Amino acid sequence: MNTLEKDLAYVWHPFTQMQTAEDPIVIEKGEGSYLYSKDGKKYLDAISSWWVTTHGHANPYIADKVYEQLKKLEHTIFTGITHDKAADLAARLIGLLPDNQAKIFYSDNGSTSVEVAIKMAFQFWHNQNKPKTKIICFDRAYHGDTFGAMSVGGRTHFTAPFVPFLFDVVHVEVPIKGSENKVVEQMKVALENNDVAAFIYEPLVLGAAGMVMYSPEVLNRLLELCKNANVLCIADEVFVGFGRTGKFFASENMEFQPDIVTMSKGITGGTMALGATACTQEIFDMFLSDEKLKALFHGHSFTGNPVACAAACASLDLFGKDECWSSIAMICEEQQAFVSKMTGAAYVKEIRSTGTILAIEVDTGEGTSYFNTIRDTIYNYFMDQGIIIRPLGNVLYLVPPYCITREELQGIHTHIEAFFENLPGN
Ligand SMILES: Cc1ncc(COP(=O)(O)O)c(C=O)c1O
Repeated sequence: MNTLEKDLAYVWHPFTQMQTAEDPIVIEKGEGSYLYSKDGKKYLDAISSWWVTTHGHANPYIADKVYEQLKKLEHTIFTGITHDKAADLAARLIGLLPDNQAKIFYSDNGSTSVEVAIKMAFQFWHNQNKPKTKIICFDRAYHGDTFGAMSVGGRTHFTAPFVPFLFDVVHVEVPIKGSENKVVEQMKVALENNDVAAFIYEPLVLGAAGMVMYSPEVLNRLLELCKNANVLCIADEVFVGFGRTGKFFASENMEFQPDIVTMSKGITGGTMALGATACTQEIFDMFLSDEKLKALFHGHSFTGNPVACAAACASLDLFGKDECWSSIAMICEEQQAFVSKMTGAAYVKEIRSTGTILAIEVDTGEGTSYFNTIRDTIYNYFMDQGIIIRPLGNVLYLVPPYCITREELQGIHTHIEAFFENLPGN
């Protein structure tokens, strides 16, 4: 059997209706901004393979560091044992995170980094004998697919089968332009009873919700309310961290800083699975006790995996180079210029950008939804042009890797313009 036959016989793909799905494309190799299929086609990865790739595919510098680490120490249990790469990475992350962050807890993906954050928050109060049982989150939030992460997200088509098993949360709306004051009032109501352990939020951009964007000013107002009500603030930087908003962490845009920060995706440059949850000294200290049961009883087989940590350290080396940040600045500039160009164009319901992220809501008359039928049209159109764009329903978005060139990004923009021009009736 060839790869495709074996895949069709044995593999179950994520977020896929396997009965109606088209055959997957067999990718053989990656290089820089491109993925290459076995049948000889070249695809520009305009979404950084689910927002993880930062310095490009098969980055040779990261690959060398990973190989070096593999030959030295591929894995070790992480209780009672530490190693160079985990310690080094933690120290470097703390140097980059907001000033109040003090400790790093490792896991192995974005959802688990969120699980750890939620558990830290609940147990922080539990350990003080002041249990608080509520979490506040945005009504359209997505923080992952494990049960805790699903619980603190929106109740959507995706979570419908699991709703009876999700714990109760308090939802507030996303404070998009025009609804800021309303959401601030919702937050005030949500904070009225002294039972809220934490507020979890994606700073500035809700990715999976459809690249929904809101301002740092309103987030500051929400964070101030939470701080005054003694509620822990959890910034989910799984998507927006590692340069996506133009700064290293999106939280840098805010005056009020989170108590807990979750990270994954871009942390290893997109090379390996790794999750990390950072917290303040105050939170960490609340787990210190002569009583063993006050410890955070959470861990994964691959917690602090040396190879993943080596990839992350190598990625941070690349983030330390000026050329990475000048490329990020170039992407921000080009996306913003494209927003100006396309605003008001036919079928463009809204076009917006935050940092390197660009989103266009296509006006189909069907409304904005993940199940909008234009989704497949957009996907197929761009795949035919050799560009991987995987729209969220009628929201077409770009999250480019930072190694993309100005010409390549402008080329994608030109294809998007052509797509809109070719829509029927245009
Ligand atoms: C903001 C945010 N948090 C958490 C997650 C979950 O990460 P993972 O898919 O690695 O479990 C995602 C994934 O898209 C995300 O966008």
